[in-house]
Amino acid sequence: MAEAPKIPDEAETRARWGVFAWNDDNQKKANEILGRYPKGREQSASIPFLDLAQRQVGEQTQTQGWLPVPVIEFVARQIGVPYMRVYEVATFYTMFNMAPVGRFHVQVCGTTPCLLGGSDDVLAACKNKGLIKGRTTPDGMFTLTEVECLGACANAPMVQINDDNFEDLDYDKTSALLEALANGTPVTPGSQTGRRDSCPAGGPTSLKEMVDENHDYRTEWA
Ligand code: FES
Repeated sequence: MAEAPKIPDEAETRARWGVFAWNDDNQKKANEILGRYPKGREQSASIPFLDLAQRQVGEQTQTQGWLPVPVIEFVARQIGVPYMRVYEVATFYTMFNMAPVGRFHVQVCGTTPCLLGGSDDVLAACKNKGLIKGRTTPDGMFTLTEVECLGACANAPMVQINDDNFEDLDYDKTSALLEALANGTPVTPGSQTGRRDSCPAGGPTSLKEMVDENHDYRTEWA
């Protein structure tokens, strides 16, 4: 994440995003989100509002969206807190983009289990397809970011692309995945080796009778 460039609050950014406001659909969603919290606790909506705002920016730019400063200011006004209270949330979580990203935001996990499982090969496949860490490809298709653990260590190495995880990757599988996305071919999230969730590779090794239905082992263990 450290490679993600920060976009300064330039006049151009303010001119483009200074009039940001919820669209009709998101206004309804924002009302519903605010309704979850007691009066006086509107700040609790910081994360869902930032996510909603980023998605709206994404819709407007045909990308995965980002959070220009005027948009963060809008969110702060919506929940009645100083800009800095929202900015510090936006800059803490890698789910929020502080700079424009492409149509596919490829977030490669580089933490220890993924590193040991072959994240270098995943990054090499990205590099071979022209993806550079912290940058967006010239065609606006891919942005590559290296992130910390995304909680799918049992299926390492993995990447998150937009809202989906792709797991059990290697060089060839990553190359094929990026190619499919670039060509608009449907892709299937989850394990790319076909294993179910995080079952042991090769299938279950214990409690096998439980795979398809509940099984009572108690009489067998007596
Ligand atoms: S280390 Fe990569 S998902 Fe946890």
